[in-house]
Amino acid sequence: MKFFADTADTEEIRELADLGLLDGVTTNPSLVAKTGRDFFEVLKEICSIVDGPVSAEVTATDFDSMMTEGQKLADVADNIAIKVPLIKDGLKACKALTQGGTKVNVTLCFSAAQAILAAKAGATYISPFVGRLDDIGHEGMDLIGDIVEIYANYDSFNTEVLVASIRHPMHVVEAARMGADVCTVPPAVLKKLFDHPLTDKGLAAFLADWEKTGQAIVS
Ligand code: E4P
Repeated sequence: MKFFADTADTEEIRELADLGLLDGVTTNPSLVAKTGRDFFEVLKEICSIVDGPVSAEVTATDFDSMMTEGQKLADVADNIAIKVPLIKDGLKACKALTQGGTKVNVTLCFSAAQAILAAKAGATYISPFVGRLDDIGHEGMDLIGDIVEIYANYDSFNTEVLVASIRHPMHVVEAARMGADVCTVPPAVLKKLFDHPLTDKGLAAFLADWEKTGQAIVS
C-alpha cells in the first residue's frame, strides 16, 4: 500500500519524506488556502521534496477551462497529477488528460457508481472520501470494499483506489485489509500509526535494564 500525505504544508511534507514513508502528496483548494501561500510556489516546493505523484486540483468546472488549468498545473513538474471533481466535465477532462499521458486523480467520489464512471474515463486514481461519508452516518469504508471488489472484476480497469478523507488509524488498517492501493493520510493521523503504549512501556524497560549493565554499544 502506498502512503500519500494529505496536506499542502511543506514543513509537514519534509518531515514525513525524511522518514522515508512518503509515496506522494494530495492537495486540494482548502488545504492550499490553509497555507496562505501562492499555489504555484507551494506546488513547486512540494514537487521538489517528493518524487511521487503530487495531486493539484483544478478549480474550473467546465471542460475547456479544466483543460487549460490542468495543462498549466501539469507544466509545474513531471510528477504533478491533475485532480478533477467527479462531475460530467471532470470525467471528460479526465479522459482527455490521461489520453495525453497526464496522471489524473478523480476526487469527491461518494458512490460505487461514480467510481465505475471514473475507471471508464481512464482515471489514474479514484478518491472516495470515507470520513465525509462517516460524518453523515454512512459507513465510509463499505464504499472502499465495494470499489476494490468491482475494479477487480475487470482487467480493463486500471484505476488505483486512493482512500481519502481519512480521519484515524483504523481507516488506514481497514483500507489495507481491503486491498486499497493508496491511503492519503493527514500528517497527524500518519504519526498516530506509530503509537502503541506497549511499545513505549517496553522500550522504557529495555533502556532502564540496559542502563543497569553500565555498558555502551558505542563508547
Ligand atoms: C484528498 O484528496 C481529499 O481532498 C481529502 O482527503 C479530503 O479530506 P477531508 O474530508 O478531511 O477534507
